Amino acid sequence: MLFAKSTYIQRRALLKQKVGSGLVLIFGNNEAPCNYPNNAYKFRQDSSFLYFFGQHREGLVGVIDIDNDKEYLVGNDIDIEDIIWTGFVPSVHDLAEEAGIANSLPMSALQQMVNTANAKGQQIHYLPPYRHDIMIQIGDLLGIHPLTTRANASVTLIKAVVDMRAVKSDEEIAEIERAMAIGYEMHTTAMKACRPGVTEKYIAGLLEGIACGHGCKVSFNTILSMHGEIFHGDPSLRPLEAGRLMLCDAGAETVDNYCSDNTRVTPISGKFTSRQRDIYSIVEACHDLVISKAKPGVKWLDMHLDVCRLMTDMLKDLGLMKGNTEDAVQAGAHAMFLQHGLGHMMGMDVHDMEGLGQVYVGFDDEVRPSTQFGTDCLRCGRRIQPGWVLTDEPGIYFIPALIDKWKAERMHTEFINYDLLETYRDFGGIRLEDDLLITADGCRVLGEKVIPYHIDEVEAFIAQ
Ligand code: GLY
Ligand code: MN
Ligand code: MN
Repeated sequence: MLFAKSTYIQRRALLKQKVGSGLVLIFGNNEAPCNYPNNAYKFRQDSSFLYFFGQHREGLVGVIDIDNDKEYLVGNDIDIEDIIWTGFVPSVHDLAEEAGIANSLPMSALQQMVNTANAKGQQIHYLPPYRHDIMIQIGDLLGIHPLTTRANASVTLIKAVVDMRAVKSDEEIAEIERAMAIGYEMHTTAMKACRPGVTEKYIAGLLEGIACGHGCKVSFNTILSMHGEIFHGDPSLRPLEAGRLMLCDAGAETVDNYCSDNTRVTPISGKFTSRQRDIYSIVEACHDLVISKAKPGVKWLDMHLDVCRLMTDMLKDLGLMKGNTEDAVQAGAHAMFLQHGLGHMMGMDVHDMEGLGQVYVGFDDEVRPSTQFGTDCLRCGRRIQPGWVLTDEPGIYFIPALIDKWKAERMHTEFINYDLLETYRDFGGIRLEDDLLITADGCRVLGEKVIPYHIDEVEAFIAQ
């Protein structure tokens, strides 16, 4: 386990207080077969299970019976066959004891526990499952269709877990810092390897190798492409071309599952062209604006809109946008250039807790999700709090299909200069991303060393 037993005991005690009553079931993950049962994807434990129960083994369920003040770790012990193939594994009883849980039971006991709770009218709380095997498991236990299990998850439990996981403790921040250090190594390696003729896949492979070499993995599939305008662009086997930009969005996830998430853009020829400098400078200014203004109490939606205003002002200076800035942003015209949100929470999941439902993670009664194109992709809008970790990731993208669509529909012609925009259709895209810890009176960019991103620093770094 990553932290001391007392950390997990305290977390479960606080969860009990927040949920109040009922039977809480937190499902760990099972092995996920890739192409046949014995060839599985690398095992990844569920983050909420890890947060409250700390154990990495597959096939476990954590149970908290709040009304009877009892905790259980449920799972089957391995047998001699397993020991022959995979070596010794501690018993469920030992795993429970390590996590400060008094009771352990085999999986066959879970149905009885649920039946008893149902008979007594106890409320059963579980989190929304995102894997189909867990949906089937919950469906079986509760006698409901597996595909209805997400919708029937406990909102009380979701809100309690979000409240707790959103605020990172010092020991969690220390683990995120370890992920940042690996992320630094990954990104600076990519920047140094970036030159004409090297394939996108090759560089992405180097990054994956660095993460694996530290015993961990990438925190999400690396996005590395000359087509930075494709948000989740897979690295291709195409060699990098002189004159273009390489966008790299990548992060590490430590052995104990805390993440980093950074994006950098490197000129493949070693120097930015003047047009690339113009666009990069806008993204850089937006990125720095957030670092200077993020502090407790600020609505992340307002931070996003401040970025949209600055971006619009600076795009007007270049002649790509025109008209009144406030009106343009209100109308959503800036979304020709920035089609995603400013950032998301980050922690054990790179999009932290996204599986619990974005509306509970990023929004509340005061700030509801927007339905306007672009801003509807903002994953967090509510007032930010000390201890939260959020990504700051503005970008500018030239998406040919979107240019064609909006131009044909005469969308926002009072704010967008389509004639000039046409000359940018092969530009690609630029995003800069760092991870911010919200402090008592501002924010701190995580990572002991910041991956170079100011234009002159980038050119000097890759020239070394
Ligand atoms: N890695 C995807 C993102 O930055 O949100
Ligand atoms: Mn990213
Ligand atoms: Mn991100």
